[in-house]
Amino acid sequence: MSAPAAAPALDLAAFPPGFSWGTATSAYQIEGAVAADGRGPSIWDTFSRTPGAVAGGDHGDTACDHYHRWPEDIALMRRLGTDAYRFSIAWPRILPTGDGPLNEAGLDFYDRLVDGLLEAGITPSATLYHWDLPQALQDRGGWATRGTAEHFAVYAGTVAARLGDRVTQWATLNEPLCSAWIGHLEGLMAPGLTDLATAVRASYHLLLGHGLAARAIRAVAPAARIGLVTNHSTVTPASDRPEDVAAAARMDGHTNRWWLDPVYGRGFPADMREVYRVDLPERPTDAAVLATPLDWHGVNYYFPVTVADDPGGPVPHAHEVRLPGVPRTAMDWAVDPAGLESVLLRLTEEYGARCLYVTENGSAFDDRPGPDGTVDDPERAAYLEAHIAACARAIRKGAPLAGYYAWSLLDNFEWAYGYAKRFGLVHVDYATQRRTPKSSGLRYADLIRRHRAQAG
Ligand code: IFM
Repeated sequence: MSAPAAAPALDLAAFPPGFSWGTATSAYQIEGAVAADGRGPSIWDTFSRTPGAVAGGDHGDTACDHYHRWPEDIALMRRLGTDAYRFSIAWPRILPTGDGPLNEAGLDFYDRLVDGLLEAGITPSATLYHWDLPQALQDRGGWATRGTAEHFAVYAGTVAARLGDRVTQWATLNEPLCSAWIGHLEGLMAPGLTDLATAVRASYHLLLGHGLAARAIRAVAPAARIGLVTNHSTVTPASDRPEDVAAAARMDGHTNRWWLDPVYGRGFPADMREVYRVDLPERPTDAAVLATPLDWHGVNYYFPVTVADDPGGPVPHAHEVRLPGVPRTAMDWAVDPAGLESVLLRLTEEYGARCLYVTENGSAFDDRPGPDGTVDDPERAAYLEAHIAACARAIRKGAPLAGYYAWSLLDNFEWAYGYAKRFGLVHVDYATQRRTPKSSGLRYADLIRRHRAQAG
């Protein structure tokens, strides 16, 4: 692999020796093989079959066929020279109906994957829930019910008991905001509901499930290092009108504080309780469970938001304002690397996080292979380097950042956008399943090599 020229401004010396460079994926987005070896249906199998729910009628039946091609994908990680790989475990492969019986064949798949990663010298980082709830649990009320949080803890303990001798890095949930708000309030992700009370109850049970699962993992795998992965945006008012400033505070509550305050022992933000006006299904001992101490916190960062007051609009009564001249990705997301720096510093200074990872960061662009088969994606390479530079600045200012995972290793099933949006450092031709590292992937490999050479 020949590497493109390095960007001069990147302060690689800011990253300590041992800093972990990785890539990330999730089960439903890459595995395919939805009916293999006893896997049960998930809410995404159902949602993707709902007419009009996913662009192009796409679904995850085959995706990147990673279930069968994982050795090739590990070889790709080796070519990129990454230290770590963040993947998710499909609950419906382990417990096809959500709460038993156990499907050994599903566990065997992750056993093989973990062993393969370790043989390749790549540290596995497992996420237990990346949105693929067993459909059988949804049929019984899903995350709107306390039972799902309790079943999640049993599932987490079962997986940790089997893999905990080799996997030490565990995340409970990925982006509970998306599960609750996009899945239960906006209806744009599975399970496709649009009800505020259900969404707020789901948000509560997701965080409760996180705390219960963290305790269940610790009980069976004492060496486990347990984290939660949340997604964040900086929120700026569109003007200094008091209405817009208040709208930005609400959007910040909805996007950031609702997901952080209870986990850091502050309880759910009072102002947002007022905005939602939904009774939380609280029990006296829950607050301590939600605030179960974390070993690390995973930050997923993609874009900032600028908002104006929208009194008649949906909760949180604030709408996004498009600023002119701001570059945007193929997702129509604004690009602002400084936002990543602020989010990392906020977690550090305001919440006192002691160990942080950027567990996802990346961009979609309309990549097309050239006539020679190579994929040149300078915009993604620039996005990647600018955001890694933001990490360097955050570290210089005191953020305890231990690793960075690029989203994503592979182009994959981008949820309601189907396969139309490509986030991979490696291009996937879905007709042939041919994988081709893009120039951004080569750039990342070069950056990792240079850091290693420099850090010794
Ligand atoms: O693809 C998703 C991922 O599943 C969760 N975080 C955001 C990514 C890009 O939208």
